[in-house]
Amino acid sequence: MNLATPYLGFTLPHPFVAGASPLADDLDRLKRLEDAGIAAVVLRSLFEEQIDQEALAHHGAIASHADSFAEATSYFPDPEGSVFGPDEYLEHLARVKASLGVPVIASLNGYTRAGWTDYARQLEGAGADALELNLYYVATDGGEDAAEIEDRMVEIVRGVDASLFFPIPLQL
Ligand SMILES: Cc1cc2nc3c(=O)[nH]c(=O)nc-3n(C[C@H](O)[C@H](O)[C@H](O)COP(=O)(O)O)c2cc1C
Repeated sequence: MNLATPYLGFTLPHPFVAGASPLADDLDRLKRLEDAGIAAVVLRSLFEEQIDQEALAHHGAIASHADSFAEATSYFPDPEGSVFGPDEYLEHLARVKASLGVPVIASLNGYTRAGWTDYARQLEGAGADALELNLYYVATDGGEDAAEIEDRMVEIVRGVDASLFFPIPLQL
């Protein structure tokens, strides 16, 4: 059966890709995934908050409501749980790219246009084959309506897309 799959300009042998997760934090584990036949890997998301530490207030706003939901908020991505800072992420990406033959996709989680455009360029320079934009956003401002949030997401995509040459898939 031919499972060849076009994705982001690549022809993958099949569509089984290691999605963004802590699995990608460790180079040896990524090599094992490649040996097992994975078609591409996505690195765990770096958070905009990590690029712009001053924006950590956003995460604080979420955390401050952590006990007021019936649903467990531990499912939210936690920027402080990430093992790499921005420089380490670039180094890890370069190492992974040098060691693997499959496409390596970086991932950024962000919610403003300004926070990551420059960094996205550095990811491209470090060898990322594409940049997955994880626009996961928890709306904590009661004064902001859905249209504003959606418009901002569109602006982020426009801003990042205009400054880069590699493919930018979205994860929402
Ligand atoms: C433990 C764990 C960590 C994850 N971390 C990220 C992440 O850092 N960035 C991201 O965009 N998605 C992250 N995801 C989402 C996955 O990449 C994937 O989109 C999601 O699990 C849906 O795919 P599935 O239906 O095959 O599980 C994570 C998922 C899990 C289970």
